[in-house]
Amino acid sequence: MADLNIACIGCGSLGGLHSDVVSEIEGARIFACVDIDEQKAKQFCERFSGEYHTTDVDKVMMDANIDAVIITTWHDTHAPFSIKAAQAKKHVFIEKPMAMTIEECYAIQEAVAASGIKYMVAFRSRFAWGTRDLKKAIPNPKVTITHCRASNIWGDSSWAQDPIKGGGQVLSQACHLADLMYYLNESEPISVYAVGGTFNHQSTEVIDTVNASIKFENGAVGSFIAGDGGSGGLGFFVEVAADGKSGMVKGHGEDVVFEDPSVGESKIYGPAGSGMREEIPAFIKCIVEDTEPIATEKDGARATILIRKCFESVRTGEIQFLNI
Ligand SMILES: NC(=O)c1ccc[n+]([C@@H]2O[C@H](COP(=O)([O-])OP(=O)(O)OC[C@H]3O[C@@H](n4cnc5c(N)ncnc54)[C@H](O)[C@@H]3O)[C@@H](O)[C@H]2O)c1
Repeated sequence: MADLNIACIGCGSLGGLHSDVVSEIEGARIFACVDIDEQKAKQFCERFSGEYHTTDVDKVMMDANIDAVIITTWHDTHAPFSIKAAQAKKHVFIEKPMAMTIEECYAIQEAVAASGIKYMVAFRSRFAWGTRDLKKAIPNPKVTITHCRASNIWGDSSWAQDPIKGGGQVLSQACHLADLMYYLNESEPISVYAVGGTFNHQSTEVIDTVNASIKFENGAVGSFIAGDGGSGGLGFFVEVAADGKSGMVKGHGEDVVFEDPSVGESKIYGPAGSGMREEIPAFIKCIVEDTEPIATEKDGARATILIRKCFESVRTGEIQFLNI
């Protein structure tokens, strides 16, 4: 494989994880490191033997040596950086959520369509081993129940709770499960009715609790329950049922539970099965082989749009319709 030069934009925890995976792949390398915090960019550059570090994202966008970018910044920059990268014809791997608003989703889709780049969203639950087993055992569920109860991992002062920089837990965490609802159903959500509000993070004013009923194009239905607060780990699960069969994935999709062994074998894969380290190899493969990424800009848009429509339903008390 010819050398693929990658810029890591956002030298924090997920930037480190993905850059680490890049460094294990022959023919791919971290070429440049970008962060508003120059010290972090410098440290990353040394850690991953990059060519240079910078605080100026436009420098990597204009650098003809760079083929692809990994965007692992705070959420308010995801759309502007995606659009810049698409216009500069750099392939993009973007952490979730792809965008914060419906308008941003459309703008990214338009920019990617005009560019011909590969654009992949980091929906790691699609790669998780439990998800793989569940999708195989029950390919066309009639009912999907998702639950995302994040413990108070982000306090009110965290960037992720800021309505501008992060958008709160439902948008940031439950987007994994909004995506899994579609991925397991393979049918577009067409309407949503939700109740909820700001129950735990009053000072942030972000909607942190949503209890929604979703209808899919194929007639299947889903419950999407997402909330913040509480204690313990991340209380995530997705359960599907059809034709007398049911099964559930836990966490981000790593573990799978089948109560009836004739449907499938329950497995506790743990962190190894989380799909985290399988995303970057898949991104590089789709560039090299010119194939469609496993989670595209349309998938990123769907998750954000579904959650934004939930918020709209909470605010108005009315059913909302989606046209993905
Ligand atoms: N898939 C998962 O399970 C998972 C888990 C955690 C975080 N994430 C996602 O990864 C992304 C990053 O989260 P994190 O936990 O690594 O955050 P972090 O704060 O550790 O890192 C983000 C970095 O981006 C930098 N940054 C912010 N704005 C910038 C800008 N305008 N230009 C350049 N750099 C900028 C910050 O200085 C920081 O170093 C988010 O999208 C988050 O939702 C995903």
